[in-house]
Amino acid sequence: MAKKDYSKLEKDDLLKVIEKLESRKKYGLIWDEEKTKEQFEKESENALPVLKEVKGKEIKTDLAKPTNILIEGDNYHTLSVLNYTHQGKIDVIYIDPPYNTGNKDFKYNDRYVDREDSYRHSKWLSFITKRLRLAKSLLTDEGVIFVSIGDDELAQLKILCDEIFGEENLLSIVSRKSKATSNKGNFFSPSTDYILAYAKNYLLLSEFDDAVAQTTDKYLKLFKYKDKRGKYNIVSLYMPSLDPRPNQRYFITCPDGSKVITPEEDKMFRWIPATFEKNLKDDRVVFIKTKTSPLIDKKGNQAKWNIYTKIYLHERQKTGMKPLTFIDMPNSVGSKELIKMGIDFAFSKPRQLVEHLIRITDKKEDIFVLDFFAGSGTSGHAVLNLNNIDNGKRVFILCTNNEENICTDICYPRLQKAIKGYKAPKGEKIDGLGGNLKYFKTAFVKNSISQDDLKIRITRECTEMLCLREGIFDEKKAKSDYRIFEQSDRVMAVYYAFERDGLEQLKKELDKMKGEKVLYCFTLDPLGLDKNDFADWEGVSLEPIPQKILDIYEQIYEY
Ligand SMILES: C[S@@+](CC[C@H](N)C(=O)[O-])C[C@H]1O[C@@H](n2cnc3c(N)ncnc32)[C@H](O)[C@@H]1O
Repeated sequence: MAKKDYSKLEKDDLLKVIEKLESRKKYGLIWDEEKTKEQFEKESENALPVLKEVKGKEIKTDLAKPTNILIEGDNYHTLSVLNYTHQGKIDVIYIDPPYNTGNKDFKYNDRYVDREDSYRHSKWLSFITKRLRLAKSLLTDEGVIFVSIGDDELAQLKILCDEIFGEENLLSIVSRKSKATSNKGNFFSPSTDYILAYAKNYLLLSEFDDAVAQTTDKYLKLFKYKDKRGKYNIVSLYMPSLDPRPNQRYFITCPDGSKVITPEEDKMFRWIPATFEKNLKDDRVVFIKTKTSPLIDKKGNQAKWNIYTKIYLHERQKTGMKPLTFIDMPNSVGSKELIKMGIDFAFSKPRQLVEHLIRITDKKEDIFVLDFFAGSGTSGHAVLNLNNIDNGKRVFILCTNNEENICTDICYPRLQKAIKGYKAPKGEKIDGLGGNLKYFKTAFVKNSISQDDLKIRITRECTEMLCLREGIFDEKKAKSDYRIFEQSDRVMAVYYAFERDGLEQLKKELDKMKGEKVLYCFTLDPLGLDKNDFADWEGVSLEPIPQKILDIYEQIYEY
């Protein structure tokens, strides 16, 4: 249709057009945008967020594994920081925001929002929209976000997420049986909640694979052995029920040099000799000494060994079946685990639920998982457990505020116990899952009038953010002009000074070090670093600071 030419209309006709346009119904979600500022906005007025490490709370058990992160503070600030450190890097987000039941579960500006509040939904929508928009830019192109939600905000959240992530990226509304029994409620007894699953871009997402059966504790217990690849079960190489086949009966040499074979001509091993040899070399065969071996030796006597093959838990993940849109994992499963851990918190989601969601995405074992409504830290516990199962290198980033001391007294102690192990109330010793953790708090850099002054201040305060960005935390050297960090064969240096005198010394230090190197170097120049200062630097990638941080904050906070 040709565009109308409004320039020739008289004033009255123009007014009619405007009236008509304004009265037109718009499809989508409309609410009263909250006018009063949220607490977090007041905190960050004229200030920009950074992270500060709480040193005494670091947990290190295995330096070969990556460092996980717990951030105490308002998640809006954390999401802002992550927009610099992890933009486009997060593979899976799981969040469980307040459901806004009107029952003291949602605080807006330090006050609980009750059912009678006429802006109840508007407040919640203002709150969640701001966070979801920041979260979206953290996802990788193949990333997925799962949002738990109850009846009260399901409809609103669905339309909002359609707007933010795109309706085409809705993967499903999963229902979950949240309570096994309950007789509360007026007409129905509430026993389900929902998980909205959205892709960043569904066209790039690989197919989901059902792993429900493999997340039950009964199933996991079968995998009681562990080696460098992860947890495994063993299955006998000899399988009497197999139909006779050529080539599947042969002598195998045991660790003591004796040779063993299946007991009869028509009884077979599961593998042909070539497959057996290949797997033996690959450390996938186990010899177990036993008095009940079904095999025989060269003389036809009962063998002293039986032979098994390893079945790794993570290699059995794929079932070829898509996950159902119904999950039966009631909250009581989560509460029971916390009671066993001696943690007093009644509102956690089951660890197995988050494990299930991570598993069905069928993503690799070195992904980033983010939960910015972490509460008691269930998502962190889930990642630690999955890593323990398959020796994976998934990294979690958790953020929670410290409402009712949930971060300091519930989340952190829970993660500590999960990593290091603990004694259950009945005296049972539970082994630690291993892993590393750093604890940060959000802090603020006062925004001064002079841009140069702000740049100097933020550079001085942004080191922890740079460590988080690179995943390199172990400090090797601290001088007045620079600091050097190293982890898993990667090196990061930060140069803080306006003068370039200290660069020569820093270069010498870096030349002595091995591995991939990156230098974050202070400059006031918004266009970046002066190449002449680094003419003879080799093998070090250069990143100017702090302009990129300020650019991102400028988009988020109009300071
Ligand atoms: C429903 S709970 C999440 C429970 C969690 N899934 C678990 O299994 O323990 C929501 C959590 O988000 C936290 N929270 C609420 N608003 C927040 C905010 N603006 N920033 C950070 N955390 C927040 C609350 O303290 C609460 O612990």
